Amino acid sequence: MEDLSPRPGDLEHIETASRDEISALQLDRMKWSLRHAYYNVPFYRKSFDDAGVHPDDLKSLSDLSKFPFTVKTDLRDNYPFGMFAVPREEVQRIHASSGTTGQPTVVGYTKNDLDVWGTVVARSLRASGLRRGDLLHNAYGYGLFTGGLGIHLGADKLGLSTVPISGGMTPRQVRLIEDFRATGITVTPSYALSILDEYAAQGLDPRKSPLKVGIFGAEPWTNAMRREIEEAFDMHAVDIYGLSEVMGPGVANECVETKDGLHIWEDHFYPEVIDPQTGEVLPDGELGELVFTSLSKEAFPIVRYRTRDLTRLLPGTARSMRRMEKVTGRSDDMIILRGVNVFPTQIEEVLMQVRDLAPHFQIELHRKGRMDAMRVLCEACEGVGQSGRDAAARDMAHRIKQMVGVSVEIHVSDPGGVERSQGKAVRIIDNRPKGD
Ligand code: DLL
Repeated sequence: MEDLSPRPGDLEHIETASRDEISALQLDRMKWSLRHAYYNVPFYRKSFDDAGVHPDDLKSLSDLSKFPFTVKTDLRDNYPFGMFAVPREEVQRIHASSGTTGQPTVVGYTKNDLDVWGTVVARSLRASGLRRGDLLHNAYGYGLFTGGLGIHLGADKLGLSTVPISGGMTPRQVRLIEDFRATGITVTPSYALSILDEYAAQGLDPRKSPLKVGIFGAEPWTNAMRREIEEAFDMHAVDIYGLSEVMGPGVANECVETKDGLHIWEDHFYPEVIDPQTGEVLPDGELGELVFTSLSKEAFPIVRYRTRDLTRLLPGTARSMRRMEKVTGRSDDMIILRGVNVFPTQIEEVLMQVRDLAPHFQIELHRKGRMDAMRVLCEACEGVGQSGRDAAARDMAHRIKQMVGVSVEIHVSDPGGVERSQGKAVRIIDNRPKGD
């Protein structure tokens, strides 16, 4: 794989600034942001008042822990524009969640917010190894989802040639990567696997593709999956993280030269990790729920937003800003099976070790007697017969029992049998009876 490390002069000053400089900037910006939220968003005024805190109480960064959390339902309760801190006329862009599970959550950006977003995404793409002149195949969905348009902003800022292909029509994805000679691809890791299948279907060798780097995010994925994708395409695979409530893609990104977790762009987003049960702030290094406070956002300031993503904060390496470990999963996606916590990423990790099974999977939950039970739906690699499938299923069940500590059923289908994703993968199908 090509060396894509940054050269002297490639980085912004703040990326290698001292911790003191970063903290001073954060404190200034945090004071501004809390005031901005308090004086312009009735929701924050009420929530701060109810908690008996005022923005002037923030004298140091650690004082942030005195302020109340914000959660997704707060956004829903203020649908559509109640969380905006500027007149609607100053909002240049609106994004929203799909709202399939209730009231959609709506976020907004001023001209300046879009500029900041472009800056942090450009920084992320540069950290991934892309430079002016590279050609980016952007397969994140365009539309209300922040993936496509967010990446696009940063790609423009970095000076890339962007192909705004969005998700879907997989045969055409392969054709354009090859014909346009894309050097970078931005896509969910699960859809990258569908693109990989399509290379095989078209009789093409993905290792000969022009791609140098893939920038994968919007859903959890493991280091085992990284190895699988890097090997298959002979390219680097780096992790990009973000959420619409905080900005969109580009809140944090891995550096291609280290691939050791995602540097959080702390000059704009202040992270904390808390104990999800007690809400107490945990020291760096401990696993808990990630919480963000925006430091510069105008249209949609967000204070102590509980992401439900589980990770830990780590010191800076390739950049001075702190890292977050690859996300283990969302607390919502944690399955509790006979008292054992199970995350889809653990299943992915095991699946990658089993020969003869393709990297696609879904988890089906059902009821067996009075107990919850889990079935992992996987599929055989091309050319693997019944005895190979049976052996793979036994191997998989055995490894899950050993590594995760639960007994599960494994169902191995024909190649192509597991539903394919065109964006974020649906990992869990819950067939348990409702209402109990
Ligand atoms: O998924 C933004 C995004 C687009 C990030 C493209 C990266 C690339 P939402 O739709 O609001 O925004 O979903 C945010 O997705 O809270 C995580 O649970 C999950 N997520 C995002 N990136 C990662 C990642 C976009 N790298 C939610 N690893 C977040 C694990 C991720 N989970």
